[in-house]
Amino acid sequence: MFERHRIGTTAIAVHVSFGRSLEQHDAEAEFLELVRASGAQTQEVVRVNRKLPEPRYLIGEGKAKELKQVVQAHGAELVIVDFAISPAQERNLERMIECRVLDRIGLILDIFAQRAASFEGKLQVELAQLRHLSTRLVRGWTHLERQKGGIGLRGPGEKQLETDRRLLAERIKQINRRLDAVIRRRDLSRRARERREISLVSLVGYTNAGKSTLFNALSDAGVLVADQLFATLDTTVRRLALPSKDITLIADTVGFIRDLPHELVAAFRATLEETRNASLLLHVVDASAMEREEQMQEVDSVLEEMGAGDVPVLEVFNKVDQVPGQEARLERNAEGLAVRVWLSAQTGQGIDLLLEALNERLSEMRVHVTVQLSPSAGRLRAMLFKLGKVQREDVAPDGRLRIDVELPRSDFNALCKNEGLAELLDAEQTEETAFEGCAVALAP
Ligand code: GTP
Repeated sequence: MFERHRIGTTAIAVHVSFGRSLEQHDAEAEFLELVRASGAQTQEVVRVNRKLPEPRYLIGEGKAKELKQVVQAHGAELVIVDFAISPAQERNLERMIECRVLDRIGLILDIFAQRAASFEGKLQVELAQLRHLSTRLVRGWTHLERQKGGIGLRGPGEKQLETDRRLLAERIKQINRRLDAVIRRRDLSRRARERREISLVSLVGYTNAGKSTLFNALSDAGVLVADQLFATLDTTVRRLALPSKDITLIADTVGFIRDLPHELVAAFRATLEETRNASLLLHVVDASAMEREEQMQEVDSVLEEMGAGDVPVLEVFNKVDQVPGQEARLERNAEGLAVRVWLSAQTGQGIDLLLEALNERLSEMRVHVTVQLSPSAGRLRAMLFKLGKVQREDVAPDGRLRIDVELPRSDFNALCKNEGLAELLDAEQTEETAFEGCAVALAP
């Protein structure tokens, strides 16, 4: 019913900077990469530097006329503007230039639409596109407002615009329902993982920082690696065996980007859910990027916005092979905590340091588990009380115990290895009833 954007292949790229200093070299390069990732070929770049956006044409009437000449000279099919433009500006520009105009949000949505692989990813992109479209319908296209009757679709005298809005709203509702179902299923598998206390490490980072390359280097997972922005859209999760034999899951997430359209931040919240629930985030940084600091800040603010601002972070300064005078190394803070690893995911130098840092950071973390013990397991019970912080202890009528305890991961691992603690975890939901109405011994 609602066609996804089809992008023509020949484009004029318009890079706009308002009031900022010109040397937006990285920003322009990134924009051109985005255009390339969408499948369009840039025939010419038009640069616009103004103090403020102009209300009618964004780039000003004079510049718009100039743009028209460039488009005609190349016979370009598309103008792509590196800025979020209003529906009215889009319409005015299209009328003046006689060519389709796509803004930064439309461009990113299109790339996401092409890259979404999972069912959930596709639903989320469609949702974001519909939301984007609905703002345009509300404020934009007056030709939709003519009176039009229709069979089975709209009531007598209902305006086309209202019908379109209603259909959009219905489709959005339907997608939201499907997404809810997908999210519920994912929650179930997450709970199963939590019960087994497997730690999850999530890779986050600015787009093109090298997350997929690192993910591959770490897990040999064979996910797509390409020198394209947003090569990875959906979260992929793989197992990683660390030297301590800790089982860790590692998730590769979507690349973050400057000015990520708000529709997408919201729509991809669920995809990035893994990030919020991670025990540790590996923040992958392209150490060779000119705008390294800015990119890191951008990632931090998206994390904050997603509610993942408190998750512990280990920084990975990747592409050390491209930074003159730097070599692979592990940096610690004043307390001796491993905080940053310089490495090259491509050449492999420093990967061993990352594993060492991961090992350290994960084993000093505390885990929270629920354990079921038989009445005869007094020794293990005593150890749990000694090593950990018992938050609650329940006693079932048959004498079995259920203990909620928080303890350092290293102790937890030792108890799993020496005392068979792992088999006692995973208190089955079905056994819940055994503890109903049980006597509760409060935590000490
Ligand atoms: P998105 O999916 O867009 O978020 O990208 P990503 O962060 O997953 O980046 P990806 O792993 O696809 O790498 C981007 C580009 O950087 C590729 O061309 C890689 O070959 C290159 N690259 C990754 N790691 C290194 C490195 O250590 N050194 C060098 N020189 N290049 C690297």
